[in-house]
Amino acid sequence: MREVLGIDIGGTGVKCAIIDIDSGKMLTERFKEATPQPATPEAVADVIKKQIRLLNWSGPIGCGLPSVIRKGKVATAANIDDAWIGLPANRFFSDALGHPTVVLNDADAAGVAEMKIGKGKNKNGVVLLMTIGTGIGSALFIDGKLVPNTEFGHLRFKGMAAEKYCSNSARKNEGLEYDVWAERLDEFLHHLNRICSPELILLGGGISKKFERYADCFTVPIKVTPAKLENTAGVIGAALAAEVLL
Ligand code: BGC
Repeated sequence: MREVLGIDIGGTGVKCAIIDIDSGKMLTERFKEATPQPATPEAVADVIKKQIRLLNWSGPIGCGLPSVIRKGKVATAANIDDAWIGLPANRFFSDALGHPTVVLNDADAAGVAEMKIGKGKNKNGVVLLMTIGTGIGSALFIDGKLVPNTEFGHLRFKGMAAEKYCSNSARKNEGLEYDVWAERLDEFLHHLNRICSPELILLGGGISKKFERYADCFTVPIKVTPAKLENTAGVIGAALAAEVLL
């Protein structure tokens, strides 16, 4: 069995689990620690070191970060500390954690998992996965191939970054009922439909577990469905990305 530690760094939590990368199955439960504030590279690495000790882990690591990762370098930091910007992420984590580590965008990681073993499996055409959490992440696939770093959550919409309008944290901060929030998300999905005409939209992140509470609110003429892996897609996809290390 080929095992990898998958880590999903979010604006709110750092999640991890050991994954069998051939089946995509989680071999442990998914452990979660609060994201340190400020979420500097060193503080986040310390949390991961704790998780490594807890799991007694000594192998390769795949890590999803809420950032654009261009040629291995962190290019943006929306819900984590600005100190990440410019950091050579693979090298930083491999050195800080003492294990070879591959880093990619967290939503791209979730998308990769959902396309391999979730509802995107064998789906051709344009498929869009959106992770709805502290921010909004996006992973765009064309015939199963990822177009990395799309960052649709940062499109300007209603005079602000779209994630400020319809992320899960916008729902919580503004005390919105699920249907009111889902109408906002639906408006944004109409916008995305105009931009890239996906055939299928998969919703990931914590909110995907509550899908039945707002499923009826969508009017966008595309199939919108919760990701099969719900909010475990991020850790699984991060681990899958580390296959290159084996
Ligand atoms: C970040 C993305 C990330 C998303 C979900 C956004 O604020 O810019 O890179 O995928 O949040 O975490």
